Amino acid sequence: MNNLTGADPETLIGQAREALSNAYSPYSHVRVGAALISASGKIYTGCNVENVSYGLTNCAERTAVFKGVSEEGERFEIIAIAVVAEKEGAPFPIPPCGACRQVLLEFAQSSASQCFFVGKNGALVTWQIADLLPEAFRSEE
Ligand code: THU
Repeated sequence: MNNLTGADPETLIGQAREALSNAYSPYSHVRVGAALISASGKIYTGCNVENVSYGLTNCAERTAVFKGVSEEGERFEIIAIAVVAEKEGAPFPIPPCGACRQVLLEFAQSSASQCFFVGKNGALVTWQIADLLPEAFRSEE
């Protein structure tokens, strides 16, 4: 799968759900998993990793992105990312936070790059990554 419109939400959501089982979240008790597919065809997953100094927490989305860069030397184009969460076993709505939106945008230069997450009513929500951060800071413009 290496075209920008071919991402299958169900596959990515399933992988994000698996990644969630590794979450380290003793403070919020929110377990988050993310799975992204790159134009290279590879899928990277991540979970949230909390810290006693709360602000040092790393979100699931950024874990997935940083793993791709660090482990595989990805300079990727994200085709799509899925994010799922649960708190103490129950689904938890999880639109990506502001910091993650900026990091995703760094590697989602195509206006077709998608983000799937679970909304407040439990339904799948689909956004273009570019639309998640209007008037985004960019190095050139
Ligand atoms: N969290 C994520 O992993 N991704 C987001 O986009 C929003 C929040 C995590 C951080 C923290 O461990 C927990 O969710 C509750 O905020």
